[in-house]
Amino acid sequence: MNYQNLKEKYGTPLYIYDVDLMKDIICKYQNNFKSNQFETELIYASKALNIKAMLRLLMRYNLSLDVVSLGELYTAKMVGFPMEKIYFHGNNKSLEELTYAVKEAVGTIVVDNLMELELLHQITQELKKNVHIYIRLNVGVEAHTHKYIVTAHVDSKFGVLYQGKEYAEMLDLIKQSSYIHLQGFHSHIGSQIFDLAPYDATIKKLVEIIKTFDQPLDINLGGGFGTTYTDADHPIPYEEVSKHLVQTMENELMKQNAHLHKICIEPGRSIVAEAGQTLYTIGGIKQTPNKLYYFIDGGMTDNIRPALYQALYHAEIVGKENQFKNKIVTIAGKCCESGDIIIENILLPEAQRNDLLVTYSTGAYGYSMSSNYNKALTPAVVFVEDGKDELVVKRQSLAELIEREI
Ligand code: LLP
Repeated sequence: MNYQNLKEKYGTPLYIYDVDLMKDIICKYQNNFKSNQFETELIYASKALNIKAMLRLLMRYNLSLDVVSLGELYTAKMVGFPMEKIYFHGNNKSLEELTYAVKEAVGTIVVDNLMELELLHQITQELKKNVHIYIRLNVGVEAHTHKYIVTAHVDSKFGVLYQGKEYAEMLDLIKQSSYIHLQGFHSHIGSQIFDLAPYDATIKKLVEIIKTFDQPLDINLGGGFGTTYTDADHPIPYEEVSKHLVQTMENELMKQNAHLHKICIEPGRSIVAEAGQTLYTIGGIKQTPNKLYYFIDGGMTDNIRPALYQALYHAEIVGKENQFKNKIVTIAGKCCESGDIIIENILLPEAQRNDLLVTYSTGAYGYSMSSNYNKALTPAVVFVEDGKDELVVKRQSLAELIEREI
C-alpha cells in the first residue's frame, strides 16, 4: 500500500479497504458453507459497512444482505440490490420502514416481537401483499463477549423467548393471517465470538424448534464470528467455521430426525474488519510527566470502538515499521474529550510532525459508526483492488456539514 501517495490524492484521515482481501474472505465462507442435504445462504450484515461500493461488491459475489433500517435498505435499493435477497432486521421497525419493505417486496422480514408482527399483519392486510418472515428467537445462549455486543441473554432487547406467551401468540397470529408466511427462525447470539460451542448449542435448540413444524423451515444463525484486531486475537479460520456449522447442523438433524430447508449465516465484521485500515497524519507530540502522546488528525469521530468497547488496535508509523520501537505511546484524537484515545500504551518508534500513522483492522463499524462530533468531517473511503485505488466515498465538505441546518 503506497500510503504517501494515497494521502496526497485523498488526504487524511482516510479509510482504506483492501478489496482483494474481502473477496478472499467471502470465497472462504462461500466455498465451504455448503451441504448436499439442505440449502445454504451467505448473508452480509451490512451494518458493519453499508456503502454503495460494498453492496456492489456483494452483488458481484451473489451474497444476500442484512439491513436494519430504512437507510440501509434505501442504499441497497439505490444500487439495484435484488430485494428478494434482503433480510430486514431490527427490534423496533417503524410503520414507515415496514410499509416500505412490504411495498418493495423485501425477501424476508425478521420479526423481532409480537407488536411488530401485529403491525406487519395490519400492513399486509391493507396492502394485500404477501411477506415471508423469520421470527427472531432468543434461545438463551450466552456468548462471552463485550456486554454491549452480547444479544441473547434473557433480558435482551432482541427477539422473543421460546416457549413464552409472546411466542405462542405470534404463532397464532401467523396462522390467522393469509399474507404472513413463516419461513424460519433467526438467532444472533453476539459479536466477536471466538468459540463455536455457543453456535452448536443454538443449532441444537433451533432444530428442536423447527422439528415441531410440518414443513422444513430455515435457520439463520446470525453472524458474530471473531476477527483479528491485534496479535492477541486468534479467530477460527472462516473455512472451518463454515464447515463446522454445516456439519453440526447435519449431525443435529440426523440425531433429532428433523428436516431443514435452508441454513443462513450473517457475518458482517469478519468480512470487512481486517480489510480496512485508517490512515492519519500525526500533528502534535506531547510529553506529560507520565505519558507520551502522538496526536492524530482523526480519533473517536472515525473510530468510536476504543471509547465505546475498550477495543484494542494495532498501529504503525508509515516508513518506520522496522525501526526500533522505544517509545510507549498513547495515540489520541482531536476531540475535546479525554476519552478520545485510539490506542493506549503501544510501542512505537520516535515520530515527527507530519508522519503518517496507520491503524489496522478498522474496516468494521468504523465508518458506519462515525460521527460529526465537534463538527469533524467524515473521512473519505478508498477501495484498493488489483493495486488500483478508487474513491468510493468522498470526504465530507464544510458546506455538506451544515447543509441541513436552517
Ligand atoms: N446479524 C445480526 C442480527 C446482528 O445483530 C449482527 C450484529 C450481525 C448479524 C453481524 O455481526 P458481526 O458478524 O458483525 O459480528 N458495533 C459493534 C458491533 C455490533 C453488532 C451488532 N449486530 C462493534 O463495533 O463491535
